[in-house]
Amino acid sequence: EMPLLSQCYNLMDFEAVAKRVMRKTAWGYYSSAADDEITMRENHAAFHRIWFRPQVLVDVTEVDLRTTMLGTKVDIPFYVTATALGKLGHVEGEVVLTRASQKHNVIQMIPTLASCAFDEIVDAAGPGQVQWLQLYVNKDRSITRKIVEHAEKRGCKGLFITVDAPQLGRREKDMRSKFTDPGSNVQAGQETETNQGAARAISTFIDPGLSWKDIPWFKSITKMPILLKGIQRVEDVIKAIEVGVDGVVLSNHGGRQLDFARSGIEILAETMPVLRKLGLENKIEIYIDGGIRRATDIIKALCLGAKGVGIGRPFLYAMSAYGLDGVDRAMQLLKDEMEMNMRLIGCQNVDQLNPSLVDVRSLYNH
Ligand code: FNR
Repeated sequence: EMPLLSQCYNLMDFEAVAKRVMRKTAWGYYSSAADDEITMRENHAAFHRIWFRPQVLVDVTEVDLRTTMLGTKVDIPFYVTATALGKLGHVEGEVVLTRASQKHNVIQMIPTLASCAFDEIVDAAGPGQVQWLQLYVNKDRSITRKIVEHAEKRGCKGLFITVDAPQLGRREKDMRSKFTDPGSNVQAGQETETNQGAARAISTFIDPGLSWKDIPWFKSITKMPILLKGIQRVEDVIKAIEVGVDGVVLSNHGGRQLDFARSGIEILAETMPVLRKLGLENKIEIYIDGGIRRATDIIKALCLGAKGVGIGRPFLYAMSAYGLDGVDRAMQLLKDEMEMNMRLIGCQNVDQLNPSLVDVRSLYNH
């Protein structure tokens, strides 16, 4: 029997419920990751190797979680990252995440491979609500151009080009549950191999030829800020700055691409000292995603220099188990956790978060 929503006290609880109640194909697609899923586990585990150095005797009566992302004011420094095929988990799909994002004043990144039509997701947004677009680049650039221009016209405020998926990773849990189309808005005209799992079935249009040389073209077709999602080493962060993009997401795609890729938080810890040494730390906005399950994870990322974090699976699980009420509660739990933990480390607002508040020695020596 289904546990009550009020019995979910943290983001992991939603995962446990979702595993019990979701259809096997849907659970397989959402929960799977590449190969042995070492990177997926590492994404969250890496946060366990960062410790706090709280400061005491700060007046924390009032705590302010608000910040800005690409100029947009948000209530708490996370966004709903792009995850494909929302209707596998809930009949209404991604618009459920849109409504929850509106309620909590956070940004939703719309996936190229959403189950709902792009316009439906934009139409579901409230007045002033900000959305971003995640882009898989098509081999046929005229299709990509149309998608980007349409997104800009419809008011999207950021273009996140996924750069860690020249080919979709091998997700065996997903492959085992033979995928049949969930009625999704996938790009037409591709051969699909449905017996390879949901991921393979929807991804054959992605261009493995995408390279740094293509970035100026994206800048020429849109005024939206451009960010590269899936950067995994400081050398590429520097290249991103050189080609003049507005930001990066340090991410390994939730462990779904290259197994043994490092966690976003570890890449961040590598990146920021180098950027500071080169005086480049304010050139772009840096986000991370992967394994963020607790507000302490968000706080650690901000201490180390991230502007914000993306969260994927937890909201999918909350949506699949309890619909809008579930996502609403998941977001509220993060707000409550973050307010409490900000008090406990002695910070009144997110601008005060800085590297001195964390001890990262065991991040590397473990
Ligand atoms: C993803 N992710 C993803 N990323 C992307 O750029 N385009 C996409 O279509 C998808 N689709 C997708 C589906 C599912 C089911 C998952 C779980 C993830 C990756 C996603 O944006 C993000 O990088 C990770 O989900 C972050 O890790 P957590 O929060 O899921 O641990």
